[in-house]
Amino acid sequence: MPKPKILVARAIFPEVIARLEKHFEVDSNQADKLLGKPELIARLQGKVGVFTTGSERIDADVLAACPDLKICANMAVGYNNFDVAAMSAAGVLATNAPDVLTETTADFGFALLMATARRVTESEHYLRAGQWTKWSFDMFAGSDIHGSTLGIIGMGRIGQGIAKRGAHGFGMNVIYHNRSKLDASLEAACKARYVGKEELLRTADHVVLVVPYSAASHHTIGAAELALMKPTANLINIARGGIVDDAALAVALRERRIAAAGLDVFEGEPKVHPDLLTVPNVVLTPHIASATVPTRLAMANLASDNLIGYLEQNKPVTPLNAAELAAKNLAK
Ligand code: GLV
Repeated sequence: MPKPKILVARAIFPEVIARLEKHFEVDSNQADKLLGKPELIARLQGKVGVFTTGSERIDADVLAACPDLKICANMAVGYNNFDVAAMSAAGVLATNAPDVLTETTADFGFALLMATARRVTESEHYLRAGQWTKWSFDMFAGSDIHGSTLGIIGMGRIGQGIAKRGAHGFGMNVIYHNRSKLDASLEAACKARYVGKEELLRTADHVVLVVPYSAASHHTIGAAELALMKPTANLINIARGGIVDDAALAVALRERRIAAAGLDVFEGEPKVHPDLLTVPNVVLTPHIASATVPTRLAMANLASDNLIGYLEQNKPVTPLNAAELAAKNLAK
């Protein structure tokens, strides 16, 4: 019997392609050419599954043009590149890659917080530029991490990982804001206290954003929220571009209305707002929070597990809309 056909839309580990080839006829994009919508649609003809990363948008147009498609498996925990409602309506399963990246991403959130608060990259640029000629008492004086107040907006698994690092590792006073309050045992494990968003913004020394992107979370931090923050505070975004109004943030940084920011994600990435590139008090990284080899491999294998599990046994590992498909009896 011929193997079912799938598309791997971006370059991934060769060993993962080899694994998928045992189960499927794989059209892979190891050249890593970014596929625009027409190219994606063309490559998806006759394919029952697609392995996506956050850069491929799966919407009603793509679904209408690709009637053979049964599953889209994202190699990311975030899935704002998927129109899940349109996928459910079309009977297409959506899966993401949660859990396997939690600790790695929490590590990076902390790395970015520390680099930002202690001005690590700014001072390195100064040194590399040959500007370091003498010691001075206030050279690159930043803000303390130990004993300070850490405010986390979005207290899912990654937010909790950051809270634990802050509370247990650095003796930070941890406050958080979330759609819902955590139960008491989780709050105790994280040593974290629930507060309103305004209180968090007014009192935190370091505000870390870990909320999923949606229309509701668009510009969670804009000019009004930045104005509430302490002038000594730092803002860290490891969530998604669009959670922060990058133009408003660049103004706040330039005018020193907050001390500094650390950003791993950007509105319209890989483009970065030009004003962010000209302010010194921001640490900029290219969406690498989950980027360690073991974690990226685990994410790629989880996306593959979903493709194999669903297409061979109707058993996806981390489905997003299985209940919707089952309720409507829509699964293809
Ligand atoms: C990365 O941003 C992810 O959502 O996994």
